[in-house]
Amino acid sequence: MSVQEPIIAANWKCCLDWYEVQSFRDWLSATKLSKGHLACFPSDCYLSYLASQTQPSVTIGAQNISVHEKGAFTGEVAAFQLKSLGVERVLIGHSERRHVFHETSGLLSQKLSQLVAHNLVACYCIGETLEEREAGATLEVLSAQLRTFLEVCETHKDTPFTSQSWVAYEPVWAIGTGKTAELEDISIAHTFINETIISALGHPLPLLYGGSVKPQNTCGILGTPFVDGVLVGSASNNSETFGQLIDEAMR
Ligand code: PGA
Repeated sequence: MSVQEPIIAANWKCCLDWYEVQSFRDWLSATKLSKGHLACFPSDCYLSYLASQTQPSVTIGAQNISVHEKGAFTGEVAAFQLKSLGVERVLIGHSERRHVFHETSGLLSQKLSQLVAHNLVACYCIGETLEEREAGATLEVLSAQLRTFLEVCETHKDTPFTSQSWVAYEPVWAIGTGKTAELEDISIAHTFINETIISALGHPLPLLYGGSVKPQNTCGILGTPFVDGVLVGSASNNSETFGQLIDEAMR
């Protein structure tokens, strides 16, 4: 059985052009979920358009944020700028930021602090590489990555950041590869993440799974213990496939 109120989040990465985003907006306006919550993470250049033109029930979030507050940082987008566009949620720690752009836990911690300072919330992503998995270090890696996030939560207890952020478990080897983790592995990871969060904060946070989620595996993933939603890359770039995935999530 699927989770009662699933979160379906689309990570459009650096994939859609302006014309595709406009048709997606029309499609989003016509899409009504019978339960749960829809979120889209477009490139920054489309945030203003989508944030102002999409029904308020759809979360429009950013894929990244600057560590800098404000000033002479050419090419950066700061938290206060996102906030002024009506953005509430930002992906932090995505595997491509960690591994392609070599973002360290120190840098991620600064980004998380920027969110807190501007009353924004995170979709904080964690996940092990194939080497780490094969070395049997999955839970150790998840624990260390979670620590970065939980330390910020612990120093900012009564904030929307600490009560409303999401955590996404995305095994690096499953992202964009077509390989999905076994349901048993997802269950072990999510149970561990849930316990770690509860023991640090005293309350759970919504947990998303990501990594080659597609219509065919959505139902099974959403039926796994402690999976509250999915973070979808490739299968969210096409409204027909994404629509099928949503239908599966609504079952
Ligand atoms: P994928 O990407 O669905 O294409 O594997 C997921 C993600 O990177 O969030």
